[in-house]
Amino acid sequence: MNHPFDPADDIVGYNRAAWNSQVQKRNPWTIPVSTEEIQRARNDDWQIVLTPEKPVPREWFPDFRASPIEVLCLAGSGGQQAPILAAAGANVTVFDNSEAQLAQDRTVADREGLPIKLIQGDMADLAVLGNASFDLIVHPCSNSFVPSVLPVWKEAERVMKRGANLLSGIVNPVFYLFDDQLMEKGEFKLQHKIPYSDLTSLSSEQMQALLEENEPLCFGHTLTDQLGGQIEAGLVITGLFEDGWSEWPISKYISTFIATKATKP
Ligand SMILES: C[S@@+](CC[C@H](N)C(=O)[O-])C[C@H]1O[C@@H](n2cnc3c(N)ncnc32)[C@H](O)[C@@H]1O
Repeated sequence: MNHPFDPADDIVGYNRAAWNSQVQKRNPWTIPVSTEEIQRARNDDWQIVLTPEKPVPREWFPDFRASPIEVLCLAGSGGQQAPILAAAGANVTVFDNSEAQLAQDRTVADREGLPIKLIQGDMADLAVLGNASFDLIVHPCSNSFVPSVLPVWKEAERVMKRGANLLSGIVNPVFYLFDDQLMEKGEFKLQHKIPYSDLTSLSSEQMQALLEENEPLCFGHTLTDQLGGQIEAGLVITGLFEDGWSEWPISKYISTFIATKATKP
């Protein structure tokens, strides 16, 4: 494809700017939690989502109050999961590509007096984090913004302690099969192959429209890469549920999100 600017040259840089722009546009995944939610979390009344609607079961989390644990919110900034977990008693590090998203966590941390550590970087390279550093990783639906998910699972496994859990939100690749514009109207026309990439599957006009709007570019990974990739990285999948998003017409027919719990043996 011949675009004046080719985001494939630097997809991490392109998606960083795009997520900075999502903060300005008030994308729902960039809106920080309220003081009331933080107060409830301090009293052990809390929940978080890694997929759009269903909260992660509380039994997927260790008891933070018994002894503080090290938690990594991987590609998970935006002032949502991290401040809740910090208020609930965990020692939280947030790692994300977008400085504007990280600033949302900084805003809540300052407002609520929560000691959250913020690191900017690409989820495929966690070299700044030591081996076996974390008891828990929470990874909301973010790997649809990177072209290859296997390095993410390998890096996550490396920084996990033995017995640690990785809780991930995943987009079911079935979502990427259909013509996007028709799907928004509730019409389903098979259009794309899986694995899917905005970089190679869109027409020049569709790509130009995304670039002009500073929209993040997406990738639809196979279930082999999403689920098998966690296993290949050395983890054991010990929990799974599906979720939908009522805003998406396809959710009437199939749950297009998966949450997994994977344990490092
Ligand atoms: C849908 S938001 C997820 C965060 C949100 N709190 C949630 O609950 O879904 C996607 C996040 O992935 C981050 N992201 C995208 N590409 C990334 C990359 N290569 N490395 C790290 N973070 C990335 C974005 O900056 C954004 O904060």
